[in-house]
Amino acid sequence: MRKMGFFLTSGILATLVPTTAQAKVTAPAGAKIFRLDGAGVTYAMGVDEKGYLQPLYWGAPLAAGDPLVSTDPVKTGDPVLVKAPGELSGFDPAGSVTLQEYPGQGEGLVNDPGIKTIFADGNRDLVLKYRSHSVRGETLIVELADIKRPLTVTLRYTIDPETGVLARSASVRNGDNRPVRVDQIASAVFTLPVGDDYRLHYLTGRHAAEWQKKDVAITPALTVLESRRGSTGHGNNPYFAIGREGVTSEEHGPVWYGALAWSGSFRISVGQDNLGRIRVMGGYNPYDFSWSLKPGETLDTPIFYAGYSNAGMGGASRTFHKFEVAHIMPGGEKARLRPVLYNSWEATAFDVTEAGQEALAEKAARIGVERFVVDDGWFGARNSDKAGLGDWTVNRTKFPNGMKPLIDKVHALGMDFGLWVEPEMVNVDSDLYRAHPDWVLNYTGRPRTEGRNQLVLNLARKDVRDHLLGVLDKLVSENDIAFLKWDYNRNWTEGGWPEMPVQDQQRVYVDYVRNLYHILSELRRRHPKLEIEGCSGGGGRVDLGILGLTDEVWPSDNTDPADRLMIQDGFTQAYPTSVMMAWVTDSPNWANTRTTSLDYRFLSSMQGGLGIGANLDKWQQEDFTTASKWVAAYKTIRQTVQRGQLYRIDPPSNDNASSATMYVSQDRRQGVMFQMLHSSMWRDNPTPNHPKGLDPSATYRVSVLGGGVLPDGVPARASGAYWMERGLRAPLKGDFVGTAFVFDVAG
Ligand code: DGJ
Repeated sequence: MRKMGFFLTSGILATLVPTTAQAKVTAPAGAKIFRLDGAGVTYAMGVDEKGYLQPLYWGAPLAAGDPLVSTDPVKTGDPVLVKAPGELSGFDPAGSVTLQEYPGQGEGLVNDPGIKTIFADGNRDLVLKYRSHSVRGETLIVELADIKRPLTVTLRYTIDPETGVLARSASVRNGDNRPVRVDQIASAVFTLPVGDDYRLHYLTGRHAAEWQKKDVAITPALTVLESRRGSTGHGNNPYFAIGREGVTSEEHGPVWYGALAWSGSFRISVGQDNLGRIRVMGGYNPYDFSWSLKPGETLDTPIFYAGYSNAGMGGASRTFHKFEVAHIMPGGEKARLRPVLYNSWEATAFDVTEAGQEALAEKAARIGVERFVVDDGWFGARNSDKAGLGDWTVNRTKFPNGMKPLIDKVHALGMDFGLWVEPEMVNVDSDLYRAHPDWVLNYTGRPRTEGRNQLVLNLARKDVRDHLLGVLDKLVSENDIAFLKWDYNRNWTEGGWPEMPVQDQQRVYVDYVRNLYHILSELRRRHPKLEIEGCSGGGGRVDLGILGLTDEVWPSDNTDPADRLMIQDGFTQAYPTSVMMAWVTDSPNWANTRTTSLDYRFLSSMQGGLGIGANLDKWQQEDFTTASKWVAAYKTIRQTVQRGQLYRIDPPSNDNASSATMYVSQDRRQGVMFQMLHSSMWRDNPTPNHPKGLDPSATYRVSVLGGGVLPDGVPARASGAYWMERGLRAPLKGDFVGTAFVFDVAG
């Protein structure tokens, strides 16, 4: 398999699904039925006799040559392959009841359109019909055109042969000699068979409470997952999964899922259309958006990735993780495992000094940390969050000889070095703002609302983009930096771009994000060994766009180890553990003042990319001993946790006193099952947890991670079948305790 590449089309970051020699796209000339087949998935559409492109099928694989008929319920049983329905009633004209793969807002459409436009003469009717198709490499390209005006929409499709994950995007081109205003444009519209038993699973929350799972019925009342914040946001993540009531469970039943590769304002709507068909539409958020498309100009959308699994929510997320690791994350499957990291933020906040950081680095090295990261506070006049953002030069009061002595020390201790930056922001109290007050998002003469005392730089401006790239390039070139933690700590408020003609000012929503991607990709190109962590006050900007350009993300500022179990459970519905960082911090935790043991904190954080963010200056010798034990143990299971298959044996929730999560290496030679007890109930809970994913015929040795005695009655060796059938449970007692069992193939 070839690794997916990134390419730029009309300035937008786009990704190609990797290809094999096998043809996965069937688009016979003349037949007007298009079909994509990948592992476990068939997707099909066809052109009806009136020229509409209709979705025909998305689900479990069909046999080659199977008939593909219209899913329109009005025509059920009709032998005609792709049939255009007639008018249903005076209220439902033919165009509005025709199931369209990508409808324009026209002809009385009453559901969410793929695209909505206004022509220069005020015409708002857009009716898209099939014009042509081609297959380039393994990308199917279908061109639709308005029935009257020279406006075309190009739909692109690829399917990953190994996971069946589709990559869909759209472009609109104005072939007219006057501008056309685009008010809404989706990356894709997906259709599921008619049914009243669908449930939508999504992820939502807020700062320090991200990744909460929700599960709602899909009805004609649309559910809208969106961000209007300028970035992805801590609220609804641009991810969805759909199952069927009573049929779909964690390990069984159909699941349709997907995620947008976009780090700006987005909108995904999910609901039943006027005939009960399930429609999922996603792309740029039309809220406060419009794009005046010049004559000859093309506007591209981000990619909407989507997949299908018949193995429940667990199967869906395992398949999606596999795809994301292989084809979204930089470096793919060969990417380096996440090193054990130390971060100074919770220990020192802005009180960063050379001596203080060196002392922390010495202690971090003692416990086996591999990367030392200085967080906020090292630059400009940054003694609090009131000043300094924008001035990315080392603070000479805190680091009199620059960063080199600390970096040398960190290297001498055997760790690599990382720095925190927040390039997109500026404090009013900064040299950058004093020099360029016009560089922030603003409306002329209107207040500039500060968030955390900062304003958002307008990255859509080329001068701002080039300045930031230059500053970051210099920082990385002049210092031996292996890692940047790239933070982003507020939402947009006054999102104006006054220097642009009025009709082009709302391009800011797209150009900002494109330029962010440009800076990140160009920085990576110039510094191929540099790794980057995406952060936005925790998990405020996690999506498949940013994940294509970062090596890991910070899911939440909430570092409480019990809350974190739920955060991690939510996060991994959509995104893989390979990018999910988790720190062990101090107790009581800042977020909720909960007190937990160091063992419990490690067991929680070891279920992702392990980091330590505690104030090591306050640790006692026994803490260092405990931490060294867990860091060493983590390194023995890191490959399995970060790159293995995730099984949710007993998911954490507010209703559940305990939880269990299992990771199994891709070759099934190692499995690790974490059992966590939130709060003891009654005298004992004898219910065993049943491992999943092991090779039933292999013999596994079982041990307690970090050392320890196996519980009574648990044999030291048995087959995978034995463990999965019999299960096992540690006799945990008390509150906030845990353990982990490691299964290694014997011999
Ligand atoms: C928000 C991040 O999520 C924290 O980890 C920390 O880096 C602070 N910003 C620093 O200001």
